[in-house]
Amino acid sequence: MRVLVAGATGAVGRPLVPLLLDAGHDVIGLSRSEAGGQWIRAQGAESVQADALDRDGLRRAVESANPDVVVQQLTDLIGGDGAANNRLYRDGTRNLVEAATAAGAGRFIAQSIAFAYEPGATPADEQVPLYVHADPPWRDSVTAIATLEETALAFGDTVVLRLGVLYGPHTWYEPGGAVASALSGEPGAPFIANLTPDDSISSFVHVADAARAVVAALDWPPGPINIVDDEPAAGREWIPVLAAALGAPAPAPMNVKQDWARGASNALARSRGWRPVFPTWRTGFAAQTG
Ligand SMILES: NC(=O)c1ccc[n+]([C@@H]2O[C@H](COP(=O)([O-])OP(=O)(O)OC[C@H]3O[C@@H](n4cnc5c(N)ncnc54)[C@H](OP(=O)(O)O)[C@@H]3O)[C@@H](O)[C@H]2O)c1
Repeated sequence: MRVLVAGATGAVGRPLVPLLLDAGHDVIGLSRSEAGGQWIRAQGAESVQADALDRDGLRRAVESANPDVVVQQLTDLIGGDGAANNRLYRDGTRNLVEAATAAGAGRFIAQSIAFAYEPGATPADEQVPLYVHADPPWRDSVTAIATLEETALAFGDTVVLRLGVLYGPHTWYEPGGAVASALSGEPGAPFIANLTPDDSISSFVHVADAARAVVAALDWPPGPINIVDDEPAAGREWIPVLAAALGAPAPAPMNVKQDWARGASNALARSRGWRPVFPTWRTGFAAQTG
């Protein structure tokens, strides 16, 4: 198949491009920059250049790629600007779905998150509604992700991958990344997740496992699906383990819990044959430094 990857140079895109090529697909990576295009071509893929917020330019680029499948792995979190990321989720996804439709693609695979669910006592499955009535500012993020999902699903044959908190190469959690800086108390670290060792529960996924889910999703039935590891965990458990792996101090624990931080279940993905290479952050965090 011809698979266009929007976000080919990102944290998930980088492991995804070689996996798709190894599986025998023709891969076309989208980047805004010539440097991104060079990286994509060096992997053995084709590249197209466009900004997802430029509706007409994106449409021309996607049409020229003539894809069977369009994969959306776009985020704009690097600068810590939540509003910019929400704009990309809304407008970038709309533009990409329109471009995929115009290009005659048959399938769309979108990146969402597995931590936007309504509060509850157990890890969320895919039937739990998104928490669009959360208090601001979380409501703004959840509303944007809900719009991303609705827009992507309106394409028709769409799989929405609800990813856990990403770690591994090119993420905030890698050695020397934003989380290590924040744990070490360095100023200027961009916006990152809650780093208080409290009772809030997170589900993680390594970028390599997220990329493997994209390849598997080429053949999955449409709809949303959680892509998370096997061990949802409270901050008081995972933060000291991460801090030790990064050689950073762990903050003091606190007895608080964010109501929506409940983790997610991977039962559906496992029932479809997806198996995480890193089934738990306990070993996955340490592997980042290995
Ligand atoms: N589920 C999660 O926990 C989750 C999800 C996403 C991100 N994150 C975190 O956020 C960190 C910051 O990453 P990031 O936001 O820079 O994501 P990233 O996944 O590392 O890269 C973003 C990708 O989106 C592309 N992109 C961004 N804006 C675009 C636009 N307007 N038009 C076309 N392409 C565009 C970039 O391409 P070019 O720059 O080549 O144009 C790049 O390939 C990640 O490393 C990760 O730790 C976490």
